[in-house]
Amino acid sequence: MVITQFHCLVSLARERHYGRAAEASHVPQADLLALIRAAEKEFGHPIVKPGPRFAGFTPEGERLLATMRQFLSDAGDPSGPMPVVTSEIVVAPLLQRRSVSPKRLCAPGPGAEDTDLILQAALRAPDHGGLHPWRVLEFPERQREALADLFEDEKRRRDPLASPADLRLAREHATRPPSLLAFIVSPRARSKVPTREQWLAAGAALGNLLNAAHQLGFGAIVLSGERCFDPVLAAQLGVRPDEFLAGFVSLGSVVEAPPPRRHPLPAQVWSSWMPATGAGTGARQAAEPQKLEARDSEG
Ligand SMILES: Cc1cc2nc3c(=O)[nH]c(=O)nc-3n(C[C@H](O)[C@H](O)[C@H](O)COP(=O)(O)O)c2cc1C
Repeated sequence: MVITQFHCLVSLARERHYGRAAEASHVPQADLLALIRAAEKEFGHPIVKPGPRFAGFTPEGERLLATMRQFLSDAGDPSGPMPVVTSEIVVAPLLQRRSVSPKRLCAPGPGAEDTDLILQAALRAPDHGGLHPWRVLEFPERQREALADLFEDEKRRRDPLASPADLRLAREHATRPPSLLAFIVSPRARSKVPTREQWLAAGAALGNLLNAAHQLGFGAIVLSGERCFDPVLAAQLGVRPDEFLAGFVSLGSVVEAPPPRRHPLPAQVWSSWMPATGAGTGARQAAEPQKLEARDSEG
């Protein structure tokens, strides 16, 4: 654990508010939450009670706090900021994000301010040409029953023999998530940016959206399923024929953490390029980077 974490937790104990504790510790709020998550990982116990707003420390958190207070007072500097942040802590929010299924989510979902931050993060994703070839459609609480009717109709179209339980499940996909969004990919047809790069930009935006939700303390998951490929449902949701309904994003407070999963190792996606030894192949490979360089731009 680093000194910045000590100060953040002591400030949190004093302020009992994430925003004010971040301010007092001279770190952005997202960093404060990341530091807490990293400390929880290190200690193997939750330190703060779950939820997007500060709701108090867990018993383990209280014990940790008492030890830290002692340490800081022994060190002679119980309040001054000491910006010591290790690289592991900086990337901790990215390493710790998990998808949280709707059955593990409860209200509240993100409010207007949090949603705005989440969208700002999505809009900061790398985007060739600044096209933002995607958009987000929100399904407010009062429209969920109407959405459930559409999901049920889609299920009947796909499976005329669907059981009442299947139909109920289809409806629940519309009504259960505390917050529900559709992520729509809208490639710009007349752009010089290849469509595949627009898809990548949309995917990067979706990744930022999920990471921002996680850093704000919410659980989130993207689910597509067969219904995303149904043209009737797409039209009913206002998705144009040149757009794609990529998936539905459920968001909410985390009731229960998802089960642990094994993550692939960096080595599985990493290799080092070597020039080919054969003359013919080598010449072809040498030409390829030049072609790419000619198109390279940050615009
Ligand atoms: C566009 C998109 C659509 C997805 N659709 C589904 C789906 O229909 N069903 C599903 O089980 N997982 C789906 N996933 C995967 C989950 O959202 C999640 O990423 C996966 O279960 C891995 O969990 P993790 O994010 O905690 O590593 C989808 C992911 C993306 C990006």
